[in-house]
Amino acid sequence: MQFTAQFQAYRDRVEQGLDRLIPAATTRPARLHEAMRYALLGGGKRLRPVLTLAAADLFHAKTDALPVAVALECVHTYSLIHDDLPCMDNDDLRRGQPTTHKKFDEATALLAGDALLTLAFQLIGRHYAAAPALGATLTREIADAAGSEQLIGGQMADLLAEKKTDATAGELEFIHLNKTAAMITASLVAGGLCGGASNVQLETLRTAGRHLGLAFQITDDVLDATADTATLGKTAGKDARAGKTTYVKLHGLDAARKFARQHTDTALTALVSLPGDKAFLTALIESMAGRAS
Ligand code: IPE
Ligand code: IPE
Ligand code: MG
Ligand code: MG
Ligand code: MG
Repeated sequence: MQFTAQFQAYRDRVEQGLDRLIPAATTRPARLHEAMRYALLGGGKRLRPVLTLAAADLFHAKTDALPVAVALECVHTYSLIHDDLPCMDNDDLRRGQPTTHKKFDEATALLAGDALLTLAFQLIGRHYAAAPALGATLTREIADAAGSEQLIGGQMADLLAEKKTDATAGELEFIHLNKTAAMITASLVAGGLCGGASNVQLETLRTAGRHLGLAFQITDDVLDATADTATLGKTAGKDARAGKTTYVKLHGLDAARKFARQHTDTALTALVSLPGDKAFLTALIESMAGRAS
């Protein structure tokens, strides 16, 4: 299958999984569940859950990776809802539509985010009950990635570095590794865990995830500075206005693009030693380097 068709097939599985595994919009209180579904089902590239499914396929996983893939998209979407709140990045547009706090209100957005984070762990608990060791490992992996030393720590450092004029390259790498690469790494590792990957193979997935994650966030910084709002589906030019510490601010556009290319190449090199058909994952990583949004 061609890459585009295969990506669409994976995304279709994710969309169906999301629709099926998330509480119905009519679930009481409807306003909360409507907000959760609004944020989750309104678009998005679905990179993280597709990475999980594709990594599981490398190992011909016998355990269904879809519930954990959906759980990862729940954590990611919660992080976006909260990232957009006025007390954080204060964004009005996400995935081409009003942010959840604009469409609903701040309290509802906050609670929808809280609920999506918790739902992720409910899904893992429910769907991997028959494989308790796997369920425990997936829980630990995602809790670590989403926790105060990774995703949340990265978000905290991102806010602390706003308007900073003396941020170092090391501080910037800490932000990107944690706010973005941690969840991308956990997505690949979750697929490997469902497929019974060995410790060495899991380490390889971590290396690929770390470099893909850095490339992904550097490209996000470049797009913020160079693309338009309509293409991005989120407000362009926000990083410079907010005084964010980004690769573009610290290193300039050309160097940022070079860093993204180097990290993409390192991620691709890491994949080589893994088993299975790597064509899709290779093309996916490459496509993320050249993406427009
Ligand atoms: C946005 O992530 C936040 C970053 C880590 C840059 P994505 O660019 O994956 O957003 P969606 O899920 O496609 O909307
Ligand atoms: C956010 O990074 C990463 C998250 C963990 C949500 P950004 O703040 O750059 O993401 P966008 O540009 O708003 O999507
Ligand atoms: Mg942010
Ligand atoms: Mg933001
Ligand atoms: Mg950004």
